[in-house]
Amino acid sequence: LITPVILSGGSGTRLWPVSTDECPKQFLNLTGPLSMFQLTLERCQEKSLFDLPIIVGSSKHADLAEGQMDEIGASIHAHILEPCARNTAPAIALAALACKNPQGLLLVMPSDHIIKDVPAFQKAVQESLSLAKARWLVTFGIEPKAPETGYGYIQQGEPVFGSSNSFAAQQFVEKPHRSNAEKMLAEGGYHWNAGIFLFRADTYLTALAEQAPAMLEAAKKAMEKADQDQTRIKPHEASFAEAPSDSIDYAIMEKAEKVAVTPVDPGWSDVGSWDSLLEIGQSDEQDNVTFGDVLTLESTGNLVHSDGLEITTFGLENLIIVANGKQVMILPKGQSQNVRKIVTARKDSD
Ligand code: GDD
Ligand code: MG
Repeated sequence: LITPVILSGGSGTRLWPVSTDECPKQFLNLTGPLSMFQLTLERCQEKSLFDLPIIVGSSKHADLAEGQMDEIGASIHAHILEPCARNTAPAIALAALACKNPQGLLLVMPSDHIIKDVPAFQKAVQESLSLAKARWLVTFGIEPKAPETGYGYIQQGEPVFGSSNSFAAQQFVEKPHRSNAEKMLAEGGYHWNAGIFLFRADTYLTALAEQAPAMLEAAKKAMEKADQDQTRIKPHEASFAEAPSDSIDYAIMEKAEKVAVTPVDPGWSDVGSWDSLLEIGQSDEQDNVTFGDVLTLESTGNLVHSDGLEITTFGLENLIIVANGKQVMILPKGQSQNVRKIVTARKDSD
């Protein structure tokens, strides 16, 4: 059985003003009744494939996360509460160390993605099991649709001997510059990294020992001195703080030898912007995607998301309108990568 590791420690300002430090993106229900964190928990309920999951997230959101687990009656193996954020590589190290069986398989998953075709995703995981058992670090590749600079790119190499659908990764390029992303797209043979990883706990820890020994030492110390209260594990703060902050992509994947990629098309979206919600959301007959108490009259192609306000539009086209109870943001469709700028400008003017 595979132990799912759910990463829920990201802050995510790209969906401001609805996602905030108090309630980051993964805990929001943007596409239906369940939050993306809850959808991730539900995605690994298949008992023939998955053991109980390990959740790794910020201690600040411990109650929020557990409240959401209770809402859907999710059982877990452990909830690791990071005393400070050190990015994904140390977070995954904590989970690998919490795994009792060193050879146990971990499926690392972000908690803030949408996967529409869960059976297709599970099939790709199943097809990759033998590779992970043979000490490969398995990634899942999505066909790239644009030269995005916020993703990792995986160059597909030769098929891996004995596997039906996986390839050796010739190169892993995390968050390329625009020109390089365009080059890779034109050249072909690259996948976007879905941010989901399958490997044995000991494969990951060995890679860390080779490529980021200080990180491994800090994580080990933090777990040796951890406090445990039922399923809650609190790593030792001062020890964990010593871990260099880095993502698994930069710290491990760009450098590791035995990286494989399994291509998959599970209707994946990392919901990185309001524009992406306009793409994946359920649209009405006028191509509006709405959420909350919203009425759109003679309006087309808008995303109107309200959390706590009554919104009525008339005669509007191709706008993104987002409100929480206090703040409203309005911008043209196609411009939502500018939300960071807006957040910064708002903070400066307050
Ligand atoms: N526990 C924990 N602690 N989780 C974290 C932390 C942390 O310090 N930092 C981030 N996370 C969680 C986020 O909540 C998210 O679910 C996941 O880890 C990935 O982190 P992101 O910060 O969202 O990474 P990214 O989107 O910039 O890039 C990654 O995902 C892309 C696909 O969405 C990379 O893996 C890229 O290569 C990939 O293409
Ligand atoms: Mg992300």
